[in-house]
Amino acid sequence: MKVAVLGLGYVGCVTAACLAKLGHQVIGVDRDEHKVGNVLAGHAPFYEPGLEEIVREVTALGRLSATVSLEEGIGDAEIALICVGTPSETNGNLGLAQLKRVSEEIGGLLARRSKRLIVVVRSTVFPGTCEEVVMPALGGGAAAAVVCNPEFLREGTAVQDFMEPSLLVVGGPDSAAVHSVADLYKCLPGHHCLVTLRTAEMIKYACNSFHAVKIAFANEIGSVCRELEIPAHEVMQTLCRDVKLNISPAYLRPGFAFGGSCLPKDLRALTYRASRLDLHLPLLQNVLPSNEQHLRRAIERALALPAGRTGIYGLAFKENTDDLRESPIVMLIEHLLGKGRELRVYDPHIQIDQIYGANRDFVLKVIPHIGRLLMESLDEMLANCDNLIIAQKPTPDAITRIEASGLPVLDVVSG
Ligand SMILES: NC(=O)c1ccc[n+]([C@@H]2O[C@H](COP(=O)([O-])OP(=O)(O)OC[C@H]3O[C@@H](n4cnc5c(N)ncnc54)[C@H](O)[C@@H]3O)[C@@H](O)[C@H]2O)c1
Repeated sequence: MKVAVLGLGYVGCVTAACLAKLGHQVIGVDRDEHKVGNVLAGHAPFYEPGLEEIVREVTALGRLSATVSLEEGIGDAEIALICVGTPSETNGNLGLAQLKRVSEEIGGLLARRSKRLIVVVRSTVFPGTCEEVVMPALGGGAAAAVVCNPEFLREGTAVQDFMEPSLLVVGGPDSAAVHSVADLYKCLPGHHCLVTLRTAEMIKYACNSFHAVKIAFANEIGSVCRELEIPAHEVMQTLCRDVKLNISPAYLRPGFAFGGSCLPKDLRALTYRASRLDLHLPLLQNVLPSNEQHLRRAIERALALPAGRTGIYGLAFKENTDDLRESPIVMLIEHLLGKGRELRVYDPHIQIDQIYGANRDFVLKVIPHIGRLLMESLDEMLANCDNLIIAQKPTPDAITRIEASGLPVLDVVSG
C-alpha cells in the first residue's frame, strides 16, 4: 500500500521504516528538516537498535522517502498514519496541539485529492479525541475515514516490538477502512483485535497504566523483601510461575469490589508491618481505599434506583461460597438499609439458620435483622421486589429466571 507517516519521531520513524521493510511504499513527513534529511540520506534520525540498517536498506530500495511537505506526503497515499507527539501539559492533560495542527493541515488538503484518505491516529490519545478533535479538524466529510491504531512499541526494542507485536489493535466506525489498516500488518505474527474507535483509544491507556502499576507493585514488594532480607527476585519470579491466578486474565475483569477473609486482611497486615519498618508503600496502602471507593460508586448507583422494594442477588463475598466475612455486599446492604430502602436478599448458598461461627457473628453485627430480609428461594425474591441488584455472579439458571421476571436490573458484577 502507499502510506504516508506523519511525524518521524521514535514512533513515526520506526513505523515508516518497518512498513517499508514489509513491502509498503512509504513516505515520511516531518516539519523537522534534520530528521527528513537523515532519512533521505539513508540514516535513522536517532539511535534505536536495528533501525539504521532498515532505513539504509529501504531507502536504497526506493521504498522509503521523506519530505517536509505534507502535501507531497499525502499526495497519492491511501493511508496516512499520524505519529506526532502528544506530550503532557503542565496540569497533566494531554497536549493535542501537534495532533490538531496536523489534522487541520490534512483537512485543508483533502479537497485536492481524488480518492478517500484513511487517516490513522497512531499517537496516544484519550478516548473521544478522534471524534472530538481529529474528525472535525479534517472537515467531517466523506473524503477521510478516521481509524485509531495505537502503538505499543518500546524504545530500545522498537524494531523488534514492531516486527513481533505484543498486541495489534485497530478501531474505527468504517469497517472497510479498519480492515485496510489491519492489512498493513497482515504478514506480522499475532492476532488482530478489531474494536471500536473509543475502545482502541482506551486500550493504550489501560496497557500503559497496567505496566506502570506492575512496576510499582514489583518495586514495593521488592522494598519489603529488602527490609526483611528476603531475595526479592526469588519472590517475584516465583509469583510469576503461577500462570493460573497471577500472570493470567484472573482478577482482571472489571466488576464489583473485592472482599472475603483473605485479601483485605493480608493487605492490612502487609502495609501495617511495612509501616513498622518505616516503609511507605503508596500503591499497596491505597488498594483498600480504592476498593472502598469502588463500593461507594456501586452504592450510589443502587441509590439511584427508583424507590420501591429492591431485591439483591448474592450476599457472600463471591459466588459458590457461604463466607460472609468482609463481603462488600453486606456493606452495600448496610448502606441501603441506612438510607431507608426496603430490601429482599437471596444467596443460593446462604440460609441464616445454617451459618454459624465468625460468619454468623459478622453478618449479625452489621445487619442484625438480616434473617427477615433473606428469601428462601430466588423465585420468592423475584415475586416480592420491584427492581433487582445483581451483586454476585448468578448461576445460568438464575440468569434465565431473572430475565424472565422482566424486573429492572442493576448489575454491579459485570462492571
Ligand atoms: N516513544 C514511545 O516509545 C511511544 C510508544 C508508543 C506510543 N507513543 C506515542 O506516539 C506518539 C509519538 O511519540 P514519539 O515518541 O514518536 O514523539 P516524538 O516527539 O519523538 O515525535 C513526534 C514527531 O512529530 C513531528 N511533528 C509534529 N507536528 C508535525 C506536523 N504538523 N507535521 C509533521 N510532523 C510533525 C515532530 O517534529 C516530531 O519529529 C505520542 O503520542 C506517544 O505518546 C510513543
